[in-house]
Amino acid sequence: MRPTRVRTAALAAATALLAGLAVTPAAHASTDQHRAGSTLAQLAERTGRYFGSAVDNPELSDTSYADLLGKEFDATTPGNGMKWYATEPQRGVFDFTAGDEIVDYAKSKGLKVRGHTLLWHQQLPSWLTSGTWTADELRSILKNHITQVVRHYKGKVFAWDVANEIMNEDGTYRENIFYKTIGPSYIADALRWAHAADPKVKLYLNDYNVEAIGPKSDAYYTLIKQLKADHVPINGFGMQAHLALQYGFPDRLRQNIRRFADLGVDVAITELDIRMVLPSDATKLAQQADWYGKVTDACLNVKRCVGITVWGYSDKHSWIPSVFPGEGAALPWDENLAHKPAYGAIHDALASAAKED
Ligand code: XIL
Repeated sequence: MRPTRVRTAALAAATALLAGLAVTPAAHASTDQHRAGSTLAQLAERTGRYFGSAVDNPELSDTSYADLLGKEFDATTPGNGMKWYATEPQRGVFDFTAGDEIVDYAKSKGLKVRGHTLLWHQQLPSWLTSGTWTADELRSILKNHITQVVRHYKGKVFAWDVANEIMNEDGTYRENIFYKTIGPSYIADALRWAHAADPKVKLYLNDYNVEAIGPKSDAYYTLIKQLKADHVPINGFGMQAHLALQYGFPDRLRQNIRRFADLGVDVAITELDIRMVLPSDATKLAQQADWYGKVTDACLNVKRCVGITVWGYSDKHSWIPSVFPGEGAALPWDENLAHKPAYGAIHDALASAAKED
């Protein structure tokens, strides 16, 4: 492996793409040959990190997709299978079928699993959202949910997104059902209940639009600092990183990761994808590759940035087109499971860090 040559080849390919020139198949082949030696996970492991991809249950029956995921990555996150609607579809009735399916798949492929998510304002079961609850009732519902789910997956997941998307863009608390009924104390309590059910699992807060330094990430910074001061069990901050070329690269990403690490928590990039307005073209794909490389570099630069997870790895299975009409092409592999320029950029960033370590 000669990382310098690899980087040069990648740079040449990227430059050609940027200039709108066709990259010959031969150039691609030789570049990919250089990269063929190691998977993203193997390189990440050499730096003490993991490299994961989310997977949703129906995708497991796409065997070429599931096989490649199992080869290239060493971690996975269920895209939906551990959410509240799936795990407690009726009050007090738990169903771990979907989550277990992912855990079993992960085990068979040697991947570790990030648990996602114990509490969120979306994908809640209707018995919960349509009920009227006193603060005490909802607190006990939340406590039971967290306790049962964390207990079930004890020793099977290495981390939990305990609370997902609990802040607004302006840094105020999101008025989800828990905030409205219980008040902000539900956050510390959720962390305490999760810790009681599995003292070893890493507990995260997780959100989008927190990659840049700004009001939303500031709010998490303040909250985590306070939680630490209050001895509430909190181990990590998850930056989802659902980025979009048209909105610009997040300002001071690396410094932002570092300031959370300096608070004494791990940081993870938890749901990375970089979408674009369709159709894609060589210029956009080159910019996307550059951004994937920059996100990877930013994580690699901070020791406590423990790993990166892409939210699916191929454009064949991505949540973007259904949620952001007219946008897509967000992942490092295309619909045919072929590498896009982004794959090379991630590989190169990991390879040069792996060499230094
Ligand atoms: C998405 C899933 O990928 C979709 O399949 C589902 O329809 C909606 O949720 N932030 C999160 C994830 O924390 O749970 C979301 O996953 C994407 C945004």
